[in-house]
Amino acid sequence: MGIVLQGGTVVTAAECCRTDVRIEGETVAALGSDIRQSGDEVRDVTGCLLVPGGIDAHTHFDLPIGTMATADDFVSGSRAALSGGTTTFIDYATQFKGETLRQGMANWHKRAAKGCYVDYGFHMAITDWNEAVTAELPELVRKDGVTSYKMYMAYKGSLQVADDVLFQAMQALDRLGAILCVHCENGDLIVELARQELENGHCGPRYHPLSRPITVELEAVQRIIKIAETAKSPVFIVHLSSGAALEAVREAKARGQAVYAETCPQYLVLDEERYLLPGFESAKFVLSPPLRDKENQTMLWNGLKQGVLDTVATDHCSFNFVGQKELGRSDFSRIPNGIPGVEHRLALLYSYGVLAGRISLNDWVMRCAAQPAKLFGLYPKKGTIAPGSDADIVVWDPTATGMITAKTQQQRVDYTPYEGIKTQGAVRQVYLRGQLAFDEGTILAAPDRGQYLKRKPLMK
Ligand code: URP
Ligand code: ZN
Ligand code: ZN
Repeated sequence: MGIVLQGGTVVTAAECCRTDVRIEGETVAALGSDIRQSGDEVRDVTGCLLVPGGIDAHTHFDLPIGTMATADDFVSGSRAALSGGTTTFIDYATQFKGETLRQGMANWHKRAAKGCYVDYGFHMAITDWNEAVTAELPELVRKDGVTSYKMYMAYKGSLQVADDVLFQAMQALDRLGAILCVHCENGDLIVELARQELENGHCGPRYHPLSRPITVELEAVQRIIKIAETAKSPVFIVHLSSGAALEAVREAKARGQAVYAETCPQYLVLDEERYLLPGFESAKFVLSPPLRDKENQTMLWNGLKQGVLDTVATDHCSFNFVGQKELGRSDFSRIPNGIPGVEHRLALLYSYGVLAGRISLNDWVMRCAAQPAKLFGLYPKKGTIAPGSDADIVVWDPTATGMITAKTQQQRVDYTPYEGIKTQGAVRQVYLRGQLAFDEGTILAAPDRGQYLKRKPLMK
């Protein structure tokens, strides 16, 4: 006995097709007309788009920072993801200094075991690189299915690693078919620029972007591209924010280098004017890299359309305004970095990308689901609607309208950076591996529904 979704338009990265979808068990059984079998239940989705469940390949749920943790844990973060049409996320499990990678992994599995509404995988962020860590990699890649790793060129004194470490890690990972994701900002310059701002009495959040100008991102992006070229290894640049960095990626790709890049809704929809808000309000927009101007936004949209940018992920890293962001009231460099967004990625990209004519429906699916699945070893199980794929399907109502507000969000954080922003198009239903998990605003899935995903090596 299966389910037939009847009357919708299936949208994949490649095509839009007016066709029915038959689900049997956890997977898609067939697409077409006359696919109903006896005993099937038919569900009418006339007028709706059927899109593959979103894949958010960059989240930080339950991330400990000093004595606190992010506002969203796996339970609230995954519930928010589900209600926004994201059925898979890949979180950055982190190896802290002195830990083995295995300890870092075990720590993150424990966090996720508290509950998760959707499927998930882990990238592993490495902060302490040594020979023992290198020796752990083969098992993590092959047995645990952790086929992507992360290093930071910023956050001096905590997460930042040196160029030789980046180089060695890229080579070691490439030998195993894994890839290194990199936070590209020059951490040394940031510390010095922040020191100079503070020395001049510039303590408020409006000075955060001045300590992280585009040149600081561009220098790191150019450097990582050259390190990857020298290592003859692929590299994935996370949360790219500026047109100049985009051009560096474009040139590398044109030379045939395996450089991949992600941007985030915040860099496409919000801009640097948010740093001019009165009082301490701008702390709500303290993230790294910071927001840029409208010209950079336009360049990023073009980069998405042209495929220079591969994926759109949220970098969801939520801190409450009260009690967490506030820790930096007298010193902007102490404001915990990051913003929430896992709930709103599809709606923002649809409203300000597809409906604004900046990207096509297929681009939307490509950048939010298909390409992250391909690059991070989940395709075609995830990221498409095709026979044999997991039946992760979003029933998208293109006529629905909405407004993002903290009052109604699922995210467990006391604000949203998108407060008051209007959206058109919304999630009506979400199927996760064949089960209706979200229906017209109601969560139907249990909080233990999400499964850990062992991922395959990079599809080059
Ligand atoms: O400000 C940000 N992006 N915080 C999250 C951690 C990171 O750098 O990805
Ligand atoms: Zn980062
Ligand atoms: Zn991040």
